[in-house]
Amino acid sequence: MAHRIYFVIVAAGGGTRFGGDIPKQFRQLAGKPVLCHSIDAIKTFCGASEIDVRVILVLSPAGKDFWKSNGADSYPFVEIADGGVSRAESVANALAMVEAESDYAGSIIMVHDAARPMLSQELLGRLMRACSQGSQAVVPALAPTDSLMEKADICGAMPVDRSSFLAVQTPQAFHADTLISAYRNQKDNLARMTDEASVVFASTNSPIEYVDGDVRNIKITNPADLPLAEILLQQCSL
Ligand code: C5P
Repeated sequence: MAHRIYFVIVAAGGGTRFGGDIPKQFRQLAGKPVLCHSIDAIKTFCGASEIDVRVILVLSPAGKDFWKSNGADSYPFVEIADGGVSRAESVANALAMVEAESDYAGSIIMVHDAARPMLSQELLGRLMRACSQGSQAVVPALAPTDSLMEKADICGAMPVDRSSFLAVQTPQAFHADTLISAYRNQKDNLARMTDEASVVFASTNSPIEYVDGDVRNIKITNPADLPLAEILLQQCSL
């Protein structure tokens, strides 16, 4: 097992689909802000596995104000990175903080969406096991269960074979050297990268390992997702 995990939480997005004055990642869920659930999950996992953990939270200027009044006091160990104009640039800013440390080699970097509070110990275990067995890039994913259609001009939409698709979740886990050198290598292409695994694949052409995601690991996107998460937290032990 790696001696340290850098756990990067990207939280600098606008969350426009959710709406309201308070960004979704700072909304209250079972007594604490949404993003604090993931911090608690990684602390529990690393505590039980005796792995050092460093949490880097990427925030917009407005997000920093929310964090100051909604979490900073309870989580003094969390380090803050500046948000970028795209998700990949937000991640790049966090990676610059990791790179500034002399002893990051041999560590694992996980990148997680702030809006996925239902992070289970089992999923963290699957990611770490795959990394320990040599995978450089590990991504949790689920087979889509809805029928999928591709939009088409002539007829509105055409059915596609859903067995060819995966619904990708976070955290995505990487050997630190691999992710940092991929971001360096792809720095001019970051704006069009939608996730970290795409950056690694574009840089190395090496396969990504996909492990089972978790159906409970929902991304809070629409207002109805918050009460759903509340019920899941009451009913399941993560
Ligand atoms: O917009 P989307 O839901 O795909 O964003 C995924 C994650 O990336 C969210 O947690 C969001 O806060 C984060 N993000 C970011 N910086 C950006 C855009 C998105 O940290 N510029």
